[in-house]
Amino acid sequence: MGNMIHFESRSEEETEAMGYHLAQGIAPGSRLLLCGTVGTGKTVFARGIIHGLGHQDDYVTSPTFTLVNTYTEGRLPVYHFDLYRLGSVDEWLQSGLADTLDGTGVCLIEWPELVLEQGLGDYLKVSLTADDQAPYTHRVIQFIPHGPLSQGIIDHFSWPHHG
Ligand SMILES: Nc1ncnc2c1ncn2[C@@H]1O[C@H](COP(=O)(O)OP(=O)(O)O)[C@@H](O)[C@H]1O
Ligand SMILES: [Mg+2]
Repeated sequence: MGNMIHFESRSEEETEAMGYHLAQGIAPGSRLLLCGTVGTGKTVFARGIIHGLGHQDDYVTSPTFTLVNTYTEGRLPVYHFDLYRLGSVDEWLQSGLADTLDGTGVCLIEWPELVLEQGLGDYLKVSLTADDQAPYTHRVIQFIPHGPLSQGIIDHFSWPHHG
């Protein structure tokens, strides 16, 4: 595990912009695990990354029922997972979806806990937490690299609003 670093966000727009900027340093084969409870902004952050990688889609939503949404128009293909409804690791292995992790695309994984049990190699953990106090728009977004590829993403990342 490399150095962890964290930033603060005060709005949905700021979280999305952070994802957009982070995307500029994302290399082929990157895996980003988006951790945090419901409503912390995992999908907002993913939307910023997807736009930052050059995909135009205005309606990036959690693929809760389909498990994955695929974006192919931009600089790198993106596989955006939401594994909240995944029943077991076996279901994951049998689905064939695990194959995308070894490709040259970018994997964004919401609710990655089950998949992590399989061991993932190099990945960037992005951990989002929310305040439970009004106005409820404060987030702490922490980056924890696990390997050189994910370390490279945060080395490349500069964010003016350092928390
Ligand atoms: N600073 C913030 N960053 C991201 N989302 C925020 C923030 N403040 C409020 N929100 C709201 O929180 C919700 C986050 O939704 P979403 O990204 O779908 O969460 P998740 O995917 O983690 O369940 C949105 O309704 C958004 O408007
Ligand atoms: Mg979501």
